Amino acid sequence: MSIQTIGVVGAGSMGAGIANSAAMNGFNVILQDIETQFLDGALQRISKFMDKSVERKKMTEEQKEATLGRITTTVELNDLKDVDLVIEAVLENMDLKKEVFAQLDDIVRDDVIIATNTSSLSITEIASSTKRSDRIAGMHFFNPAQLMKLVEVVRGLETSNETVEVLKALSSDLNKEVVEVKIDSPGFIVNRVMVPQFIEAIRLLEEGVATAEDIDKAVKYGLNYPMGPFELQDYAGVDIGYYVMEYFQEEFNDPRFAPPLLMKQMMRAGRYGKKTGMGFYNYKKEEKKANRV
Ligand code: 3HC
Repeated sequence: MSIQTIGVVGAGSMGAGIANSAAMNGFNVILQDIETQFLDGALQRISKFMDKSVERKKMTEEQKEATLGRITTTVELNDLKDVDLVIEAVLENMDLKKEVFAQLDDIVRDDVIIATNTSSLSITEIASSTKRSDRIAGMHFFNPAQLMKLVEVVRGLETSNETVEVLKALSSDLNKEVVEVKIDSPGFIVNRVMVPQFIEAIRLLEEGVATAEDIDKAVKYGLNYPMGPFELQDYAGVDIGYYVMEYFQEEFNDPRFAPPLLMKQMMRAGRYGKKTGMGFYNYKKEEKKANRV
């Protein structure tokens, strides 16, 4: 099967990054979301990313224009009827994902693979909303998808070998390194390793062992990570990490994954997320101002 046009569903930061990555590597992309404002925002972010690429001499102005020319946007899921593959990147909500997959199952050709960019939810459960569970799999990208080199290709219980091979080949065509996750286990590989690190970092902060700045500095320089755990959580979205922790706790039936108290307080107070500009750093600053720390 030759893949020329990829449908990307969901124009948040992951959907936009995946669409950008696919278009940069020569694929035609149809990016779908439910409101034009989300699509406009995605196109702005894509354009801004490539402006920076041009500035950094990683891309020419012509390549940028050609990439943008390969991306079309739509609010109609039906416009994906002729695509050769779909990557879903809507919110991390099982009911929503199942609804989108059930609709896509009726829209796209029978031979089309529908992949989900879920970071931890069950591929098998998502696939159960379709009549093509052999052609459903995880294709987990990392943020920012244009730059991060890894894709986790994840098998659901009924994913076929052929589907896995097609997604591995596609990941290589997207210029990514690929790993196969053989069993549909929560958090796959990366989040299963990363989330406990986040939890331990927050516990260190709660116990007063070190400041957020020093924990980040220690991990950055001691382990040679590009970002420390707090910087990364603020960047990726504190709420996203929180929901993954709750999901792990429930799925593994293991309290060691429970979100720490500080994180719960931030969530309860609504002091998190890119929209509010809040994260661990700003939260600690506010606490200091209120003389609580
Ligand atoms: N176009 C092309 N290349 C670019 C670029 C752009 N717009 N922006 C940066 N780059 C390149 C740089 O040129 C440089 O590459 P080089 O070494 O070959 O020259 C490289 O990216 C790094 O650039 P900088 O050091 O200038 O750093 P930036 O601040 O721009 O990079 C970052 C930011 C790449 C995001 C880096 O900080 C990083 O890797 N952070 C960690 C991100 C991470 O861990 N993500 C995973 C999150 S978890 C996740 O997604 C899972 C999900 O399920 C929640």
